[in-house]
Amino acid sequence: METDVLIIGSGIAGLSLALKLAINHKVTVLSKSAINEGSTSYAQGGIAGVLDPFDSIEAHVNDTLTAGAGLCDPKAVAVVATHAGETIQELIQLGVPFSKEQNQNAQNSEFPFHLTKEGGHSHRRVIHAADHTGKSVADTLIKTVKHHPNIQILPEHISIDLILHPKSKECMGAYVLNKLESQVYSIKAQFTVLATGGASKAYLYTSNPDTSTGDGIAMAWRAGCRITNMEFNQFHPTCLYHPRDRSFLISEAVRGEGGILRLPNGYAFMQDYDKRADLAPRDIVARAIDQEMKKHGIDCVYLDISHKDPDYVKNHFPTIYKRCLAVGIDITKETIPVVPAAHYTCGGIHTNLDAKTDITRLYAIGETAYTGLHGANRLASNSLAEGLVFAKIAHCSIEKAFAQNKPFDQNFQPKPWDTSRITDAKEKILVSHDWDELRRVMWDYVGIVRTDKRLKRALQRIRNLQKEIYEYYCQHTLTSDLLELRNLAMVAELMILSAQKRKESRGLHYNLDYPKLSKRAKPTILDPKKLFKAPKPCKKTRH
Ligand code: FAD
Ligand code: SIN
Repeated sequence: METDVLIIGSGIAGLSLALKLAINHKVTVLSKSAINEGSTSYAQGGIAGVLDPFDSIEAHVNDTLTAGAGLCDPKAVAVVATHAGETIQELIQLGVPFSKEQNQNAQNSEFPFHLTKEGGHSHRRVIHAADHTGKSVADTLIKTVKHHPNIQILPEHISIDLILHPKSKECMGAYVLNKLESQVYSIKAQFTVLATGGASKAYLYTSNPDTSTGDGIAMAWRAGCRITNMEFNQFHPTCLYHPRDRSFLISEAVRGEGGILRLPNGYAFMQDYDKRADLAPRDIVARAIDQEMKKHGIDCVYLDISHKDPDYVKNHFPTIYKRCLAVGIDITKETIPVVPAAHYTCGGIHTNLDAKTDITRLYAIGETAYTGLHGANRLASNSLAEGLVFAKIAHCSIEKAFAQNKPFDQNFQPKPWDTSRITDAKEKILVSHDWDELRRVMWDYVGIVRTDKRLKRALQRIRNLQKEIYEYYCQHTLTSDLLELRNLAMVAELMILSAQKRKESRGLHYNLDYPKLSKRAKPTILDPKKLFKAPKPCKKTRH
């Protein structure tokens, strides 16, 4: 199969880029599950951007730099803060039903939308659609791309690895498994874009959907791209603690609208940790909760919004209200039991400010990319904004590359995928056991608080798992579970190696052996040329 641009991923980053490119080019979008399955559809709080005349780009920049704990790239921050507003306006034009301002006094006829606040923001600048912003954005984007004559969407297609030209080493597309037909084939493209989302499924407890297995990061690393800042996995402070609903997020906007974190005895403990109390950046709040849970030997803390008017709560947080009610908690009357959970991958594929990776013809955007925006900790609601802004940037960059018309080897034919000497797995338990072990090791040893000893132990375990997984991969028919496990194990290794390199505590990375902040802040850049030992080729060669 051939296309002009292959976009791997159908979240906010992939779909907004597809829409722009499709004006002039044939675009193929892969989605490894249903087209709407990915973190984007679960986003609650909203999208950060300077939209209020009393707010300023400078304030958004400063808040992002402060949350990022000295490790953001100021150029990337300036780019996102400057362009987030116009990309949000494009979503408004497309018809995303953002919530309107209800308060008559605060209504501004030129900009009728409600802006909420979240941790670390000095101003109300988060546009939202109640507490289902991601679903509203995804629904609108999907409706727009679905019948576009230049966009081919392939759901249930998981990309396995990138295809590099044997001589020029340019990216020529990807090998893809059609999950419904269990067939592997190659898609050749002039430009390939990784928009595969994050890797929070590496942890036992996560707010993320099943798609967040770091596939793009693992594929890029195997192909030769640098990967940066993987030690900074963000833990969201407030996921619902309930045996039946462990991975449901309680939006930070609940605290933005007045929610207070309490101990079981009602004490509002965040005032003891930070002068911004419940609205301190996420790393601080998650660590405070972890500390209180350990200190008091409790399983969770409590988020309280019951002091607000019940209608206000139901209108602002209809999804959270209904979901909590379904498990027996009326948030207008009771507190919500919450715990931190893995939420966002701040590091990723090293890209420049043109969204280019280290490999020619290969781009990366959205959560899979490291642009320098988030530094050591992401500011709430900056992720959707980053996805939108870097999709716009990638569009300009790819259009420029098309215009330059650099020679592309039209005659290149990828080697066909060889499945002649592999067998169907007799038992699935090996894969599911490895999944559980990997996620538990990461949660126990590479979580909110780390030590050198725990990291060393984690690395040993993950490397053992990698050997087992690779052997299995070489011998058996491919399934998406197996491909994702192989990727997660690789990404887990990168997270640990990065954490070991950082001899300080900064932002989301907190190591008891190095509790202080170094004077010099620098990103952790892992280079596969120095670190990646490709395993011996499978005896039963695949391609
Ligand atoms: P995703 O939306 O995760 O999409 C990834 C896509 O890649 C999916 O289509 C997936 O199927 C596909 N894919 C992955 N691997 C492969 C493969 N190998 N082959 C083919 N396809 C593949 N951020 C904010 O800014 N504001 C918020 O309010 C907010 N709330 C959040 C709430 C929750 C519960 C979660 C989980 C996240 C939230 N975030 C929020 C973070 C934000 O939603 C994500 O960072 C963002 O949506 C990522 O978008 P993306 O396009 O990069 O990836
Ligand atoms: C939330 O609604 O709390 C999530 C916001 C984000 O991850 O940016």
